[in-house]
Amino acid sequence: MDASAETIRSALLDWYDCHARSLPWRSPPGTPPPEPYRVWLSEVMLQQTTTTAVVPYYAKFLATWPTVEALAAAEDGEVMTAWAGLGYYARARNLLACARAVAARGGIFPATELELRELPGLGAYTAAAVAAIAFDEPATVIDANVERVIARLHAIDEPLPGARKTIRARAEELSPDKRPGDFAQAMMDLGATICTARNPRCLLCPLGQSCAGHRVGAECFPVKAPRQAKPQRKGRAFWIVRDEAVWLVTRPSKGMLGGMRALPDDGWNARADGDRVAPIEGKWQAGGMVRHGFTHFDLDLQLMLYSGSDCSRLDGDGVWWPLARIEDAGLPTLFAKAARLALAQAATPGE
Ligand code: ADE
Repeated sequence: MDASAETIRSALLDWYDCHARSLPWRSPPGTPPPEPYRVWLSEVMLQQTTTTAVVPYYAKFLATWPTVEALAAAEDGEVMTAWAGLGYYARARNLLACARAVAARGGIFPATELELRELPGLGAYTAAAVAAIAFDEPATVIDANVERVIARLHAIDEPLPGARKTIRARAEELSPDKRPGDFAQAMMDLGATICTARNPRCLLCPLGQSCAGHRVGAECFPVKAPRQAKPQRKGRAFWIVRDEAVWLVTRPSKGMLGGMRALPDDGWNARADGDRVAPIEGKWQAGGMVRHGFTHFDLDLQLMLYSGSDCSRLDGDGVWWPLARIEDAGLPTLFAKAARLALAQAATPGE
């Protein structure tokens, strides 16, 4: 790199002072940080999720559970329902485990990256982000946006994911002792608004002078290993209605969509198609197909509609959920799509 780390830091922070995005979990540049609970909650939600998607969930969580103690006292099911639609549901289970551990410490978050990392369900990224943003600790925070900025700044031509070690080393060189929280969020904002994955706006970039990638073509970085084709899985979900209510189950706490309310299904998973029989015998008909992409596989889910009348054999962990309130059931997106498909067919019989 031609430019010194100090030149880059101050150019970035000057830019952030004028162009920081105003986001509900943030304090303006140069002002004291929000309380750790807010920083932590937002950082957990923001992993693998866009700021636009997070805003309403963040507001709802804060309104329902204004403190970490309140969240810790919530029922698992309530939190899973409030998380429905945000995806990556292990995050919600980890959120609760962490909230309960912090509540057991009197509701006080530890203030260093190392101690934060010891909390259950709190990973390396979140520990660094909370330490830097909430406690002004000089931690190195690397998300996908930061990864892209660093790969371009240094024209790192080793492909991801192997390049992560080099990227971390370069990012650590750059991490400042002063204003680490603002610096981390400035990197994120630069990645989200200027140094974007496609069509980066290099002419507006405060680091343009220092960027080795810009000279070659920023879009060449980061280099990515060719993507593996995702496996295609097949499964079935079962729609059983009685007295204007649909039969919903709670999925086992371990595994995909763990702990979430769902339609009963045939046991599909990332490694295998579903093969279980319907929860009750009788008359079933195909009710259309739902396509859904998970991180590691794509699923074709065949919706099956029950048209028999004997539901007496249903048992286990399930509820009859009123159709009129299906939007409040907290179904994850896959099953919410299936429910919409089933309801659309009920509304247009004979199609
Ligand atoms: N993505 C992850 N954390 C973020 C933050 N604090 N601000 C904006 N985007 C983010």
